Amino acid sequence: MSTTTQANRISITTPLPGPKAAAYIARDEAVTSRVLGRVFPLVPESGRGCWITDVDGNTFLDLFAGIAVCATGHCHPAVVKAVEEQARRLIHAGGADVYSPGYAELCEQLVAIAPAGSYSDGWEVFLTNSGTESVEGALKLARYFTGRQRVIAFRGGFHGRTAGSLSLTASKSVQRRGFGPLLAGVEHLAFPNRDDCPAEVDESVWGRQQAERQFHAIFETTTPPEEVAAIVAEPIQGEGGYIVPPAGFFPAIRELCDRHGILFIADEVQTGFGRTGKWFAIEHWDVQPDIICMAKGISSGVPVGGFMARKSVATWSEGAHGSTWGGTPIGCAAARATIRVIEEEGLMENAMAQGEWLMARFRELAQETPRLVAVRGMGLMIGLETADKATAKAWMQGCFERGVLTLTAGAKSLRLAPPLILSRNEAEIGFGVMRDVLLALD
Ligand SMILES: Cc1ncc(COP(=O)(O)O)c(C=O)c1O
Repeated sequence: MSTTTQANRISITTPLPGPKAAAYIARDEAVTSRVLGRVFPLVPESGRGCWITDVDGNTFLDLFAGIAVCATGHCHPAVVKAVEEQARRLIHAGGADVYSPGYAELCEQLVAIAPAGSYSDGWEVFLTNSGTESVEGALKLARYFTGRQRVIAFRGGFHGRTAGSLSLTASKSVQRRGFGPLLAGVEHLAFPNRDDCPAEVDESVWGRQQAERQFHAIFETTTPPEEVAAIVAEPIQGEGGYIVPPAGFFPAIRELCDRHGILFIADEVQTGFGRTGKWFAIEHWDVQPDIICMAKGISSGVPVGGFMARKSVATWSEGAHGSTWGGTPIGCAAARATIRVIEEEGLMENAMAQGEWLMARFRELAQETPRLVAVRGMGLMIGLETADKATAKAWMQGCFERGVLTLTAGAKSLRLAPPLILSRNEAEIGFGVMRDVLLALD
């Protein structure tokens, strides 16, 4: 079989998986945990920019970037150089044991890009190795600072898979089945979608109502607000289907938090680092969180995470939290280079420009086929809701076979989270393939 796409760099020259990939997959499945749910029979060997080449020499356009991880693309030369140089100098210096210049420099960069809001107490940063660890640390700090235990999160939200963060995660029951009881005192409310705002109603009024009605109801019936340590939310739900909340929703939550001494934790693990056109997506609503969780796009693929807390909130005592590898020198080098590249190459502006172009094309496509029912997102975080789950799966599979990598999200959506370096030409290639595949399903 040969389905080489001409006039671009997609090149599929073997059946998928190809013979070498099939051999690796057989070896892999004999020894790796069955819990790993791989999306594609893909065995990548190399990557550059928005492109991945597998072990059989097939080249794919990567429109999900390891789920919003490779912000600067695969193997950006500046990130590779920073990692190589650091590996030659020093590989390990425990951030919880000794002072490490690279650790402090990264934290300085993070504080410099943190949302400037109405609080003037500044930020301090704790570095981790992953998103879930960032959420765990943020939860611990919120409980420590407030002396309260209850936490409120949202249905459709995803915050990780370790015990604390899994207690907040509410996107698919398979992620929770068999693991209870989880943390006590966690409640989930509905996360509104701005597309559901009635046309005749002001979105920010409606958004406020969506927050206030739900919180007032639980505060008056089940959940005394003075027992709530934190409200945790993704500014745009990721795993839940790239759901953008209405204007007014987060400002109302911020006010409720201030009124009741509750901390607002923004989980920016998927939305952060320029993906939505701002360093942090919560900035779109001009709201300052008390704690911000980070990972994924922070470091272009080298494991790094972290959370920033307002200084007046980070009151915990020395030794109350720690991590052997959090803020490893190589991770910090990759993250510093990533932040520099996002800034110097204007990647936030590019994310906005390419994202708007792509969403406009997909909205036109939605006029052509009932299989595409909604297009939503911000910047290069694009959700494409289809008519049903089978369509979403068939669309993703068809794109894979044609050399374009996408991913399902929520109940029946595809998501696009390509590298922020995506060019217009690459956006056109990706859209062209996706369009052809979707229309061919009809
Ligand atoms: C919003 C959000 N929070 C937390 C996590 C967990 O991150 P990790 O897989 O690095 O533990 C994810 C992962 O997808 C995420 O999207």
